Amino acid sequence: MLKPKDHVLVIFGASGDLTKRKLLPALLRMEAQGFLPERFAVLGIGRTEYSDHSYREHMGQELEKFSFSGDLSDSKLLKQLYYVALDTSSVDDYSRLKRKLDEITEVDKIPQNFIFYLATPPSLYEIIPAALAAHNLNRETTANWRRIIFEKPFGYNLASARKLNKFIHSCFEEDQVYRIDHYLGKETVQNIMVTRFSNGIFEPLWNRNYIHHVEITSAESIGVEGRGGYYENSGALRDMVQNHLLQLAAIMAMEPPAVNNPTAIRNETLKVFQAMRPFTEDDIRGGIIRGQYMASTIRGDQLKGYREEEGVDPASRTETYVALRLFIDNWRWGGVPFYIRTGKRLPTRVTEAVIHFKPTPHRLFCFYESAMNHDNQLVIRIQPDEGILLKFGMKVPGAGFKVQEVNMDFHYSDLSSSFLPEAYERLLLDCMNGDATLYARGDAVDEAWKLIDPVLGYWDGHPDTGLHGYPSGTWGPQPADDLIEGENLSWRYPCKNLTQDGIYCEL
Ligand code: BG6
Repeated sequence: MLKPKDHVLVIFGASGDLTKRKLLPALLRMEAQGFLPERFAVLGIGRTEYSDHSYREHMGQELEKFSFSGDLSDSKLLKQLYYVALDTSSVDDYSRLKRKLDEITEVDKIPQNFIFYLATPPSLYEIIPAALAAHNLNRETTANWRRIIFEKPFGYNLASARKLNKFIHSCFEEDQVYRIDHYLGKETVQNIMVTRFSNGIFEPLWNRNYIHHVEITSAESIGVEGRGGYYENSGALRDMVQNHLLQLAAIMAMEPPAVNNPTAIRNETLKVFQAMRPFTEDDIRGGIIRGQYMASTIRGDQLKGYREEEGVDPASRTETYVALRLFIDNWRWGGVPFYIRTGKRLPTRVTEAVIHFKPTPHRLFCFYESAMNHDNQLVIRIQPDEGILLKFGMKVPGAGFKVQEVNMDFHYSDLSSSFLPEAYERLLLDCMNGDATLYARGDAVDEAWKLIDPVLGYWDGHPDTGLHGYPSGTWGPQPADDLIEGENLSWRYPCKNLTQDGIYCEL
């Protein structure tokens, strides 16, 4: 693994949740593996007043409290933390940031290579780049580079994403811009490319001739967890589909790139976004299912309904579940539906992409107690229990030719070196090395919004569009099952018509 060049990582939003839960733990793990540069510093920026010393102390306590399981006493990183309090919306204040950077680079002998990480609310996504540019902190020279990382959400709809992209490009070049989609940082998502393009056996079958449909599920058992305020303005479509799940679909569907480099790979995923068939009003009305979780009791635990969560309107029509059917109109995928669904407060946490192969053209054998579905499935388990599972038919021993479904199952945890890096570790390291392969490119983000925008527009204009209540702890609303067409076909975890204290209903 390439060791990054010496630099300073500047984190805006340094006293926030993301910094202590994800970014600093990722940096500590990178340090433990020797992935951090020789000369390196982290400069935290926030509104709260800290000195370098009190910020180090505060972060040390926070890390120990809930996010880092390693031994902090071995870490040099905590001593490389600096802090400056400033009002991020005041351009003048950035002269203090500049002075601090000069001081750190001078004292620690670090070249003026900077990464600016915006772990802030999106309302600052124009203000911070503009202020950095006003102080020339965006300018690269032959000796020094400058990069900027944006957390999601990147835009609220197509118009705002375009405006934001345009504005950012007035301050930074596209090759300096890194838009995080943490799903792309997941080891198992990257492994989709390796599975497809480094094995001879899968790719010949990976097309409309052999694949009946593709299913992508991202289920969470948690609810909105105190993020009601954010979620009310987002909903499952914006929060999960526009970014993570469309990116995942693009990797499942892309053509093999000619070479393994960021431009070649991102050119191929862009083509998939461009081929996604726009949703018509009919598709939106009948083919996109929205749900919202309702109160229920699971094993004695009372779970709140979405409308009872803090920061949520008691009459909210925000979706916490969405299921849709998508077509990719190109030669490889013409006519193959991609079924995508995601939801909160489902029975378990699982993200997987499933290839459902077409059945044999002629059924020769009888199927044993219908244990064998009609289709062979290749299940790519993104999380948890990362791995790949192939389901196929095998003869039941004994008389006759009965066929039963069996599994060939690979788990990452079976590998002797089964350490799976966290998405943020991989993404931070890649940015430090100037590799944007696993970051979303501006044109792809634009295409993804182009697909989703009409749906959001339709829902806004037709507030009475169906919203199905589902009891917390179930697999979402029943109509989602009817999306999948075909004899005996269903989601891998179909909805069950529950009649608990929560009942499926129209909200
Ligand atoms: C985030 C969403 O981007 O992804 C959250 O904002 C969601 O609502 C999370 O819970 C899921 O990520 P993961 O890695 O746990 O699947």
